[in-house]
Amino acid sequence: MSRAPLTDGHGRRIDDLRVSVTDRCNFRCQYCMPAEGLEWLERAELLSFEEITRLVGLLAQMGVRAVRLTGGEPLVRRNFPDLCAMLARIDGIDDLSLTTNGYLLDRDAAALVAAGVKRFNVSIDSLQRDRFFEMTRRDALPRVLDGLHTLAAQPGVGRIKVNAVALRGFTEQELLPFARFAREHPFEVRFIEFMPLDADEGWTPESVLSGEEIRTRIGEHFPLVEEDREPSATARTYRFADGAPGRLGFIDPVSHPFCSDCNRIRLTADGKLRTCLFSLGETDLTAPLRAGASDDELEVILREAIWRKELKHHVGEPGFQQPARTMSAIGG
Ligand code: 5AD
Ligand code: SF4
Repeated sequence: MSRAPLTDGHGRRIDDLRVSVTDRCNFRCQYCMPAEGLEWLERAELLSFEEITRLVGLLAQMGVRAVRLTGGEPLVRRNFPDLCAMLARIDGIDDLSLTTNGYLLDRDAAALVAAGVKRFNVSIDSLQRDRFFEMTRRDALPRVLDGLHTLAAQPGVGRIKVNAVALRGFTEQELLPFARFAREHPFEVRFIEFMPLDADEGWTPESVLSGEEIRTRIGEHFPLVEEDREPSATARTYRFADGAPGRLGFIDPVSHPFCSDCNRIRLTADGKLRTCLFSLGETDLTAPLRAGASDDELEVILREAIWRKELKHHVGEPGFQQPARTMSAIGG
């Protein structure tokens, strides 16, 4: 069945969905969670695999074609590859991807690729063991790198990206090691400007290491060539001028917001629709789902919420209000 495409009140077509499958995580990254963790959702509050599949199926009828699975850490959700297989079978979903911290990839890489996950983002903020430990509060770099290489060795695996959050006072020391890493492996290393979604509310404009600054610093050692940007692509990508494999990507939501062609919506693990990372309100889908709403009734709720999608974020502007949910409870 096909329904009219989804558009928001600002004329943007919505075809990309981020689904958070759990708010739990086995890491405690400084820029995301406090050391003691957060208060987790109850099991019964989480959407079941069947509920997620129903919502994604309905959104696919309205033109959503890309689904990215996130957490918390998605691989800590029990039987997570089964959900991937259910979503990969939905008509119209032709791009199923995953963001993970990599800790459980050694265990799950084969099952995930077999289930139909095509593209992977693995978060690594430092290539030095002690600094990785400092940032994630887990001494897990060797294990994450093992997982990354296990993943890369899977036949049929698609593009792999390594995500690093760019923090002033931390990431500067990582730039050349990451550039060398990208030159030695066929991965894209992506620097993501730190956003005010941290539990400790420690974000300041000065705490962001901008993409521009990173490009300049790396470019002094390894000249970079910008690649063409696809429409709705959030990242600017660069290859190495000397032809080394791998590339660098930059997500600059703070210094260069890309809201005007944002095509994304988000579903939280407890079934709330969020139309922006920085939304202050959200739309509950769990209650209507569990009260027996029909697809047509859910469609009305979804369309109305999406119509009101925020024009842009206000990070760095006076009066900016940080959402109550942290990145781990929204999904990156
Ligand atoms: N700012 C920018 N990126 C963040 N991430 C988590 N918290 C933040 C933040 N405050 C990243 C993680 C991961 C993805 C889900 O989002 O490192 O790569
Ligand atoms: Fe976990 Fe990701 Fe948050 Fe780190 S950033 S604590 S890996 S959810």
